[in-house]
Amino acid sequence: MELFYRVTLHEIIADALTLIEERELSSKHALERVFRRVEGKDKETARGIAHAYVFEIEKWRAKIDFILNSVLKGSRVEDLDTYLANLLRIGTFEMKFKGVNPAIATDSVVRVVKEKFDLTRAKFANAVLREVEKFNVERALKRLKERDRIEWLSVRFSHPRWYVEYVVKLLGYDETVRLLLSNLRPQRYYIRVNTLKVDVDRVKRYLEENGVRVSLTPVDDVLKVLEYEKPVTKLEWYRKGYFVIQDLASAYVAHVLNPEPGERVLDLAAAPGSKTFHAAALMENRGEIVAVDYSYDRLIKMRERMKKLGVKNVKLVHADGQSYTEKEKFDKIILDAPCSSSGTYRQFPEVKWRFNEEKIKRVISVQRNMLINAYRNLAGGGEMTYSTCSIRIDENEQNVLFAIEKGLELVDYPFEWGDKGFLEIGDKVFRTWTHKHDCNSFFIAKLRKP
Ligand SMILES: C[S@@+](CC[C@H](N)C(=O)[O-])C[C@H]1O[C@@H](n2cnc3c(N)ncnc32)[C@H](O)[C@@H]1O
Repeated sequence: MELFYRVTLHEIIADALTLIEERELSSKHALERVFRRVEGKDKETARGIAHAYVFEIEKWRAKIDFILNSVLKGSRVEDLDTYLANLLRIGTFEMKFKGVNPAIATDSVVRVVKEKFDLTRAKFANAVLREVEKFNVERALKRLKERDRIEWLSVRFSHPRWYVEYVVKLLGYDETVRLLLSNLRPQRYYIRVNTLKVDVDRVKRYLEENGVRVSLTPVDDVLKVLEYEKPVTKLEWYRKGYFVIQDLASAYVAHVLNPEPGERVLDLAAAPGSKTFHAAALMENRGEIVAVDYSYDRLIKMRERMKKLGVKNVKLVHADGQSYTEKEKFDKIILDAPCSSSGTYRQFPEVKWRFNEEKIKRVISVQRNMLINAYRNLAGGGEMTYSTCSIRIDENEQNVLFAIEKGLELVDYPFEWGDKGFLEIGDKVFRTWTHKHDCNSFFIAKLRKP
């Protein structure tokens, strides 16, 4: 493969994996950043291969690390230099998941280690990967299953242990296995029609004419992609902003909020803007949406998307949603809070490895501050949605109970699909699960200020 002078595919993949880990970038953004430095006639082919490697390595990381830690004896892959660890992960993935000839997989990694580090570490990488080659994964997993079933689920289906423990308590063992399996399946795409530009029937017809088979969903302006000849993002109507890719549950939020043309709406965690833009479409670009986000980069991206979609009634504000207020109160608020993202593992496998209990506690505190701030900004009689893409009760139902304590009322909204939630408010909130609803695991509650 002809790439830029001295850049190998293994270096690109290790660079991306390292950026994901150290800078907490998404796979997509990490690869975009790495590929800015790559030139050559095979760049696009390399991009496709690198994307598949990064996605699969993130997906299978617990199993890959189990193999590496079993042969490392004493030290752990997480304690090695991040770049070196990622090169070892790539070698292990190639050998044990892709069936690449072990000598070739080892050689490709050892060459990069020699160049980036030194001979000692190249020898170390060589020795580790030779052990990986000999390691019998199935036998080790069988022994693990006898010893510790939770750990076995965590390794076998490559999910964080805390998640497995949490879901087993919540849903029981069998349903947990179904959820874990569904998180490992290929992503399902949904299309939300941008009704500012076009209607659902026209988009449906256009997609079918272009080899995309779709079906209707419980959400009026959303279509489920069943089959396609080329990715929908390569179609002209996507480029023209006639439709967006948006998860099914996420696209339900704006309908539940039901903002009306002419209202004043606040979005306290708005970027990259899916729900803001959906609300703008339901408001037919009339009234005002104040879209707040903490991340400047994400707001810049949001501004670009806004132009493409023909959204005209949104004011972007770079601020902290925990404290931002305006003198005039709002009719409606969207609070799609930052969260553990534990409902998005099928879509973003890298987030599986990003959260621990400590970090989750911190994000819950932000969610609660944002709920208090939403209360402050809401006009009397005003309504809001609280949503997250987390599976956890402490980020969802318990936060709704907290909001009720602070003065908000829970609206008994007639949700038309999805599951009930947990605790005493379970009947009045909405949840989806990846294994049941074929979308992100998601939570929505509708609240009102008396
Ligand atoms: C779940 S995402 C929002 C997704 C968005 N509502 C959509 O539908 O496209 C959470 C967002 O919260 C932002 N965020 C995190 N902490 C924040 C804070 N203290 N104030 C405002 N935004 C914050 C993040 O930058 C991120 O864009």
